[in-house]
Amino acid sequence: MAPRREVPPSTDPAQPSAARIYDYLLGGKDNYETDRAAAEKVLAVAPDQRRLARANRAFAIRAVRLLAEAGVRQFIDLGTGFPSSPSVHEAARETSPSARVVYVDYDPIVQSHNTALLASDDLVASVRADIREPATILDHPDLAPLIDFGQPVGVLIVAVLHLISDAEDPAGIVRQFTDRLSSGSYLVLSQFSSDSEAEAMDRLHAVAAGTPVETYFRPRDQILGFFEGFDLVEPGLTDVEGWRQDGPAAPTRLKIAGGVGRRP
Ligand SMILES: C[S@@+](CC[C@H](N)C(=O)[O-])C[C@H]1O[C@@H](n2cnc3c(N)ncnc32)[C@H](O)[C@@H]1O
Repeated sequence: MAPRREVPPSTDPAQPSAARIYDYLLGGKDNYETDRAAAEKVLAVAPDQRRLARANRAFAIRAVRLLAEAGVRQFIDLGTGFPSSPSVHEAARETSPSARVVYVDYDPIVQSHNTALLASDDLVASVRADIREPATILDHPDLAPLIDFGQPVGVLIVAVLHLISDAEDPAGIVRQFTDRLSSGSYLVLSQFSSDSEAEAMDRLHAVAAGTPVETYFRPRDQILGFFEGFDLVEPGLTDVEGWRQDGPAAPTRLKIAGGVGRRP
């Protein structure tokens, strides 16, 4: 068993955090000097990383819109990150004004921002929890009033699984969340893929190994395995920037694969 990363991960401004680095890459203001320095090291390896972060975020929002159009009215967003617009509930509410969303992140600063900015009404909750402990989340008292597992649920695990090592059993974690889902539910998942350029992956490993943002690139087959029990909607598992987008996307050095599965 790999050593578990501490919770809380980011109250110490001397330690970079995944949420704040991602925020910096997306052009946000919720980051410290350590995060910017860590992000700049990543940008030195992969200068297109900002574009990739934006593409990942856009993939998540396109997926939420698709689910809302398919009739999904309740969402659980695991590893939410700092608030950005459109958020999951804003995107879902373009179709369904009463869409309900539970945001989950283990970062205490993210959670306090999300509570202030996202959990703006009775149909949205922000929970601080670690996705490596699915039962804590699924049985959380703030979840039950919003999520009815007898109805379709959209579960988002977007750009977070690559922060969880194989020793921590990412497939088992996904399965514990999806086991509760009824027919017509969806899984939206993205993570760094080992289709990335080898040299860029090696350099990123060198930069991130042993830090709170150590990243686990996974081969396509392993990522496909996370969708076990789901039918992938078209176009299947693709680079996030190409998912349901017209025209070819400019290739990035590092790659995030994403897909959406529907429980039959
Ligand atoms: C790269 S951001 C992705 C944000 C958002 N899902 C997106 O794709 O736009 C990863 C987020 O996952 C959170 N995270 C990382 N490991 C986690 C864990 N074990 N449990 C809960 N949240 C976690 C981080 O705090 C961060 O906010």
